[in-house]
Amino acid sequence: MSNRYQKSRELATQAARHDAWVEAETTDPARQNYQFINNHYPLFATHAEGAYLWDIDGNRYIDYTLGYGTVLLGHAHPAVTRAVQEEVARGPCLSPLWKPMQAELCEMICRHAPNGERAFLMKTGSDATTGAVRLARLFTGRKRVLRWGYNGWHDWSTPRPGGVPEETQALVHSFNYNDVSSVEQLLNRYRGEVACVFMMPFDVEPPEPGYLQAVRDLAHAHGALVILDEMRSGFRFGMGGAQAFLDVKADLVTYSKAIANGFAISCIAGRADVLKGLSGTKMTATYFAASEAMAAALSCLRTVEAERVPEKVWMLGERLLTGLSAAVEAEGGLASVYGYPPCPHLEFDCMDADANQRAKVHFFTETARAGLFLHPSHHWYVSAAHTIEDIDKTISIFRSAMRETARHL
Ligand SMILES: Cc1ncc(COP(=O)(O)O)c(C=O)c1O
Repeated sequence: MSNRYQKSRELATQAARHDAWVEAETTDPARQNYQFINNHYPLFATHAEGAYLWDIDGNRYIDYTLGYGTVLLGHAHPAVTRAVQEEVARGPCLSPLWKPMQAELCEMICRHAPNGERAFLMKTGSDATTGAVRLARLFTGRKRVLRWGYNGWHDWSTPRPGGVPEETQALVHSFNYNDVSSVEQLLNRYRGEVACVFMMPFDVEPPEPGYLQAVRDLAHAHGALVILDEMRSGFRFGMGGAQAFLDVKADLVTYSKAIANGFAISCIAGRADVLKGLSGTKMTATYFAASEAMAAALSCLRTVEAERVPEKVWMLGERLLTGLSAAVEAEGGLASVYGYPPCPHLEFDCMDADANQRAKVHFFTETARAGLFLHPSHHWYVSAAHTIEDIDKTISIFRSAMRETARHL
């Protein structure tokens, strides 16, 4: 193997002595995806600008991971950076007092979120999803949760529940996507006990026509709330997110990621009567009122609205998806390209598991080497800073890597 990622690997070995996360990520054999990245990908980045990021070895990438989708305008967007710098200079944490911009941001989110009567600001996506579940339990007086998709790392939703009591896990039931009967069966089995149906609106597969509406109607018929987890789609799909795009209204919606172009903030928005529950529980944290990310969010959302950013992202994403699908087909059809244009996804799914894994490693090693930063097992994201030239270059690299992969197998 070349030493393209030499500094990353050296620093990882050194950092693992003190940094528990680096140690876990680089040694845990269960973390297949991360193991794969460790061996064939950079581990440390130094900086990013617009659509590009640089790793510690000085390699530049066109970035489609975009901080797991937090970046919508492009990395280090000048207006957002300026707004944050100005807010930091004014003192960003004046808790227990509130900054006026908190009210302004909640008003802005409510203006755009379908059913957005109230908004509550927190820090991380997991804060918001966990808070929304607490509010649903409080509102309905019920304990059970039906859920689908990735909803964060907290006890009720973590995909790897080591250290989570079985009693906690026993109250949460997963259902199958695009299968109304799977939700219905659980609602019937736990009749009168389900507080909410909690789900991402989609992952890689789009919803069947009427699916989300049917889930909503069923949940309501059983007295449960519907909570949509719009971490990935909120403000990226349009100002009204996936709810507006797919014409479905949840009781609560959770946002984070693209709201603040890379700064830590999240939000629960929705029905006033449900959010009123905040007065009946303790759901606060010292940094919820810290305002630098609020300044980032206001600056970001104003830009998204004024510059019609979602339209641009859809246009670029459509060009990308079309080009990638054509390349896959022309180079042997080893994989499938899925997803909506703002967040496409690739899966090697045309062979047995071993061959798929070999194809995946080869393909993503090649694309990284050629300067694309693509996550091997997560959505990719398009930002407003990508240019048509970036997209076309991406398609061309993608196509060569697909050809190489087919030849290699
Ligand atoms: C759909 C979805 N829900 C919840 C979360 C959790 O957000 P966070 O990682 O900020 O806690 C994520 C994060 O990737 C997500 O994609």
